Amino acid sequence: MIRTVIEGLGHYLPPRVVTNEELAQSMNTSDEWIVQRTGIRERRYVEDGVGASDLALPAAQKALEQAGLAPTDLDLIIFATLSPDVCFPGSACFLQARLGCRPIAALDIRTQCSGFLYGLQIADAFLRTGTYRHVLLVGAEVHSTGLDFSDRGRDVTVLFGDGAGAVVLGAREGAGLPSDSGVLCVRVCADGTGAKELWCVAPTSARMPRLTHKMLEDGLHFPQMNGRLVFRWATEKMPEAAQQVLDEMGMTANDVRWFVPHQANLRINELVARKLGIPDERCWNNIERYGNTTAATIPIGLSELAESGKLQRGDLLLLAAFGSGFTWGSALIRY
Ligand code: COA
Repeated sequence: MIRTVIEGLGHYLPPRVVTNEELAQSMNTSDEWIVQRTGIRERRYVEDGVGASDLALPAAQKALEQAGLAPTDLDLIIFATLSPDVCFPGSACFLQARLGCRPIAALDIRTQCSGFLYGLQIADAFLRTGTYRHVLLVGAEVHSTGLDFSDRGRDVTVLFGDGAGAVVLGAREGAGLPSDSGVLCVRVCADGTGAKELWCVAPTSARMPRLTHKMLEDGLHFPQMNGRLVFRWATEKMPEAAQQVLDEMGMTANDVRWFVPHQANLRINELVARKLGIPDERCWNNIERYGNTTAATIPIGLSELAESGKLQRGDLLLLAAFGSGFTWGSALIRY
C-alpha cells in the first residue's frame, strides 16, 4: 500500500513583532484582555509590499532543502490561503514561478483554517494513486493588511497574524498497518450553514462594482465573526473529528506523541485536548507568539516541532482544525 510521507518541513515568519500593547495604542483593548481570553501575547506582521507567496517562498525552499529535493522535482503545488496575493491568479502560480519549477500543476485552495488538512487530503489522494511523486503543500497568510485597527474590529484583529508553513510530501510503500510511516488517516468536513458566521463580504462578485466607497466605509472588506458561536463549534467539532480518525485507526489518545491543533485560541485548544484526554505536555501550542495564522498554522507547528528536535521519526501526530466555512477536519500521521 502506498503511503504519503513527510519528506521535508519549513516555515517562515516575517520579522516584525507586534505586541498586544502596540495594538492597544490604536484600539480599545489591553494585553490583559487578549492574554486572558485568547492566550496571544504577540504576532508577526509583514512589511508593506509583502504578499502571501513572498512568505511562502522561504518556507517552501526550507522544506525542499530538508527533503533533499530541487524545485524541479515537484509535480504539484497546493497553496492553502484565504489571503492570496491578488484576486487571480492563485498564489500557487506566483510561487511556482518564483521557485523555478517545471510547468507543473499549481492550485490554490480556500478552506481557511482547515486549509492544510484539506490540502493534505488532496495531496494524499494524488500521491497514493501514483498521479504525482512529490507534492508541495503550503499554507501562507497575510492577515495584517486586511484587519480593522479601530475599536469596531478589535474582536477579530487581535487574533490574527502573518506567516507561512510548507511541507514536501512524497510516496512510500507501506504495509497497510497503523505502524506505517506517513499519513494514516485524514478526514475533512464542511457545514456551509455557518458560512456567514466568520466571513469577509467584500469585494463581492454579486455587486457591481465589486467594491464601493460605501462598502469600505462600512468595513465590509474586513472579516466579521460571531466569536462565541465559533468558539462553541470549534470546541465541539475538533475533538469529534480527532476522535473519529483515532477510532478509524483503532488508536487512542495514549498513542499520540504530539497533538498539533489549529491555533485560534489557547482556551479552545486546552478544552479540546482535555476532551481528548491529551495532557498539556503533548499538545503543541505557539499561539502566544504568532496568533492565528489560519492555513499556515499547522505546517508552522509541525516545522517548529521538528526543528526543535521534539518531533522524532516514528512519532504519531494528531492534527485537528476548525475554521470559516464552517470547515474542519483531523489527520493522523506517523512522522
Ligand atoms: N479587547 C477588549 N475587549 C474586547 C475585545 C478586545 N480585543 N474584543 C471584544 N471585546 C469585548 C466585547 O465587546 C464584549 O464587551 P461587552 O461585554 O461590553 O459587550 C466583551 O469583550 C466580551 O466579548 P465576547 O465576544 O463575549 O468575548 P469572548 O469571551 O467570547 O472572547 C473571543 C472573544 C473572540 C476571544 C472568543 O469568542 C473566541 O476566541 N472565539 C473563537 C474565535 C476563533 O476561533 N476565530 C477563528 C476561528 S478559526
